[in-house]
Amino acid sequence: MIRDLQDKILRLKKERDFCILAHSYESHEILEVADYTGDSFGLSKSAMNVPQKNLLLCGVRFMAETAKILSPEKRVYLSHSMAGCPMAEQFDKERVLALKEQYPDAPVVAYINTTAALKTVCDVCVTSSSAVKIVRAMREKRIIFIPDCNLGAFVQKAVPEKELILLPGGCPVHAAMSKSDVARAKAAHPDALFLVHPECKREVVDAADFAGSTTAIMDFVRDSAQSEFIIGTENSIVAHLQYEYPERRFYPLSVELSCSNMRVTTLPDVYNCMLGTAGEEILLDEATIAAARRPIDAMIAMGG
Ligand code: 13P
Ligand code: SF4
Repeated sequence: MIRDLQDKILRLKKERDFCILAHSYESHEILEVADYTGDSFGLSKSAMNVPQKNLLLCGVRFMAETAKILSPEKRVYLSHSMAGCPMAEQFDKERVLALKEQYPDAPVVAYINTTAALKTVCDVCVTSSSAVKIVRAMREKRIIFIPDCNLGAFVQKAVPEKELILLPGGCPVHAAMSKSDVARAKAAHPDALFLVHPECKREVVDAADFAGSTTAIMDFVRDSAQSEFIIGTENSIVAHLQYEYPERRFYPLSVELSCSNMRVTTLPDVYNCMLGTAGEEILLDEATIAAARRPIDAMIAMGG
């Protein structure tokens, strides 16, 4: 049945001129029908160069908004209208403007997990794979970093010459992990390497053998000779890695590491969205697109 539906999706993609971009946290059957898969940075770059007229984003809303901002002439769809990211809603424009007033010499670096409206008042966007490189390359010493204080702390450690202003905020799924989850997983799998996403708290990231974006974690495994890994990011990555490397072993840091927003999209949603009976077209006004594009372009130029 899955194969039948995938074949229908592949046919419909051609008939209706769709390109499918899917974040690595999506299910295996969705990744199989996608034209591009990867982390937030990889998806942003892919969104700029697709030849198709229609773009279908399987992931969460801020990713579809980013695709629309980068390809405003295309029709961009989010495959499930309930797929949001709670972190993206944590700051609003007024709060950022107040911060700018408080620290007039400090540019605002925004994690890409923010709304299009918020990006209009930020200076540079970053993703988990580009944040260290971009912050290091910035001229200013003092930088306001929003909304993820855990990613911010990770960047601060890697770039000690900068002074990052961090505020409470972040991914509720990753930030729920603690030292005791790490101790439990390591006790159960003492020979495994521990790989983690920098959205986790400092105490978790500090205990890891490697920290990086979803793509960086998968690349680390590809290049490693090790045969066992504890994975400290959304548990879909555990499943993808286990499928890719059946001779190795992958363990979740915790069964709790599951993002309901990333999991909400199903293969039928992808099909129905292309038919126009599910999902949502992303519509942004021209002024928002123009203003939100500045920090995204800066990210691509500096992080590329
Ligand atoms: P990356 O795509 O940068 O790995 O981030 C993961 C994430 O939580 C996306 O929402
Ligand atoms: Fe947002 Fe966290 Fe889910 Fe990523 S994993 S989409 S940051 S809630």
